[in-house]
Formats: sequence, structure tokens, C-alpha cells
Amino acid sequence: MNDRAPIARRKRAPTPPRRLPIPAGGAIRFGPKLYLAQTQPGLEGIAWSEIAARLGEHGGARELARRTVADRAGLTIFHAERIDPLGAMRCAEDLLALVAYRRFAPASAESPRAGATLERVRAVVRDARFIEDALEARARIAPGSRAGRKMRFRVVTRMTGEHEFRRLDLKRMVETAIGERGDHSWRAVEEDADAEFWATMLPDEFILALRLSDDRMRHRDYKAAHLPGSLRPSVAAAMAWLSHPADDDVMLDPFCGAGTILIERAHLGRYARLIGGDRDEAALAAARENIGPRHQPLELHHWDAAALPLGRAAVNKVVTNLPWGRRHGTHEENLRLYPRAIAELRRVAAPGAPLVILTGEIRLMADLMRRERIRPERIMRVSILGAPAAIHVFRNV
Ligand SMILES: C[S@@+](CC[C@H](N)C(=O)[O-])C[C@H]1O[C@@H](n2cnc3c(N)ncnc32)[C@H](O)[C@@H]1O
Repeated sequence: MNDRAPIARRKRAPTPPRRLPIPAGGAIRFGPKLYLAQTQPGLEGIAWSEIAARLGEHGGARELARRTVADRAGLTIFHAERIDPLGAMRCAEDLLALVAYRRFAPASAESPRAGATLERVRAVVRDARFIEDALEARARIAPGSRAGRKMRFRVVTRMTGEHEFRRLDLKRMVETAIGERGDHSWRAVEEDADAEFWATMLPDEFILALRLSDDRMRHRDYKAAHLPGSLRPSVAAAMAWLSHPADDDVMLDPFCGAGTILIERAHLGRYARLIGGDRDEAALAAARENIGPRHQPLELHHWDAAALPLGRAAVNKVVTNLPWGRRHGTHEENLRLYPRAIAELRRVAAPGAPLVILTGEIRLMADLMRRERIRPERIMRVSILGAPAAIHVFRNV
């Protein structure tokens, strides 16, 4: 990671590819060197765009499928020859290697699957072929991770769709099947595991993956001061990624809270200047603590985003998370704040500048866009810790 890299050596942002095909649905053609990146639902495409950029044209990377675990996770599943550069990924929370896969015929009243499904899961896990490859990949992504003869393992299960068994039954069956394998001496534990298997049961598919990344990818190391309502770092990174980071970026986050978007943008590569502000002193103190002396030049201001002390066309990128009217402010306040704040953003952003705006006030934004005749380039529906929200990407005129 380049956390403490001197500014002059800060890496150039990987270039986001412009157009990436969306994989068709259907079964995954299972084989070696398949990986899975997990993010919040709705952000799978952005995570894949970062993967494609980091691996470059020659990484042999190809997206095979996307899946969602309702309200909990968005998954992009891809093939890659080498994944070492993905240790620095920011738009994903976890990186895993697929080690077993099975597709089931959809259950119906005429052919219920009942116990047979769990027995098939047991067989597919016991015979999983790519665990050794996954452990090797993990040693490259998270150096120091243990892989000896004796292995303590933990199973994390997620289930979506109708099934005739409980999540706990699935967990127990996967544990049994791993314990039956002859490749290592496996022992199931709940804490201090040497390996983590994530078992995902979708309506008609079972996916077993071994976690390659550790908690650093998920929680980052700068979140010293956390505020309620503070954005997940992977979501902040995805928003910054959508602004197409470039060396000459003067990026503004006028509702910066604890500074997550500014920090994530700083980690994506070079920029000219980052400008943040908030009307809440406690939020600015948290942002100062989280940012520390690392990312320069970066300015923080105490201001009202509806009356910014910035000139016309002063910035060339805006990436922000507006108050949702729940933890911050109220819906009634937002009815007044949103039109004024959006007008300010249009004034201070240069013509053609991308404005990337997240909010849970989806209806209010839609009304405002209609009234002001603002056409978004893109609206991405996302689910953030279960709450519906949308990321709007506008091009300033
Ligand atoms: C949804 S939070 C942003 C969270 C931030 N992205 C983070 O990760 O911490 C919205 C922020 O807007 C601030 N805010 C609300 N009204 C404001 C206004 N009129 N001007 C500036 N900041 C405002 C709140 O204090 C809060 O920190």
C-alpha cells in the first residue's frame, strides 16, 4: 500500500477503462484462477472496472458473472492470470478465490430438493480442487498468512432464495465436508482461524470461496475517528473512481464529514488539490484526525455548502455524499438545502466537470432534476448497509 509514500512519488491513478461489457447471466464455467471481489450491492460494476484497470490489458482478466446477496453484498466474479496488484484495491471490501461451485436445477413443487442439496454441497466441498492454489494466491495478497499442514478454519455463510434448510445447517455441512478433506488437517474454529471460507447459497447456485484479503481491505487503516453516517470506504472509493481520477484533479467534497471521500480519492493516485468542508466542527475535527499529515495539498473549511466561498469554475471534480435527512438533518431541511447546494456545485464546478452525488433522498433528487432540467449521465441504485440510495453522475454544463 502507498499510505506513507511521499507525495512526489504518489502513484498515477490506474486509468478506468471506458467501456466494459456486462457479463451475461447463467451458470459460471468453473475452473482454475477464478476470483470474487465483494462490495456493497450495486457497486459490482465499479469494482470490476477497478480490477480491469489495475490488472491492465495483459493481466488476462475477464469478468464472468455478477451476483447479489440481497441488501448485503455485490459480487463480481472474474478470471485472472495474476492478482497481486489487487492487494491495493479500494472499491472492494474483500477479495476471495473460488474453490468450489455447483449449480442446481431450480426447486419446484414437483421436485423439491430438500436434503439432497446439502449432500451435494458436502460432495462439492470435499472434492474442491483449487484450495491449494487459493492458499498460494493468498500468500501473495496478504504476506505472512499461514498455510501449514494443520489448518484452523472458519466458515462464513450467506443465503438468499428459498431453501429447505437453515443457514446454520449449511454452515455445519460445509464444516463437516472440509474436515473430511485429506489435503490438510482441518479444524473448525470460530476465532483466530488460519483460513476463512465463505459459503454463499444463492437461489440455484452454491459458491465456496477462500478469503484472500484481510481486514485491512475492508476497514482501512485511517478510520481513527468514526462518525455515525460516515461512508463505507469502499463506497467512497467507488464514487471517487466514477469521477475518473486524473493528475490535474481539483476535487471538492462540500459535505465532507469525517473525510472518507477525500482520503479515498487521495489513495487512488495523483491529484492537484483536494478541498473539503462541513458545517459541523466535530465532523471537521474527525476529518483532520483521519487525514493526518499524509495527503497534501488538502484543505478543510468550515462552511455552509449552500454558500461556498469559492469562485466560479474553481474545481474540476465534485464527489459528495449529501445529508440523507436521517442522521444528518431532516427531510424538511433537505427540501430547502438540496436546490441551493446543487446550484452552488454547478457554479463552482468547471463546465464539463463530473459531479458524483450520493443520497438516500432518491425522490427528492429525481424531483429536483426534473424541475431544473438536469440530465444525469448515470444513476446507480445501490444499497448501503441495507439502505436504498443512488449515486448520480452529472456532467456540469
Ligand atoms: C452524509 S454526511 C457525509 C459523510 C461523509 N461522506 C463521511 O464519510 O463522513 C453529510 C455531512 O454534511 C454535513 N452538512 C449538513 N448540512 C450542511 C451544510 N449546509 N453545509 C455543509 N455541511 C453540511 C453534515 O454535518 C455531515 O457531516
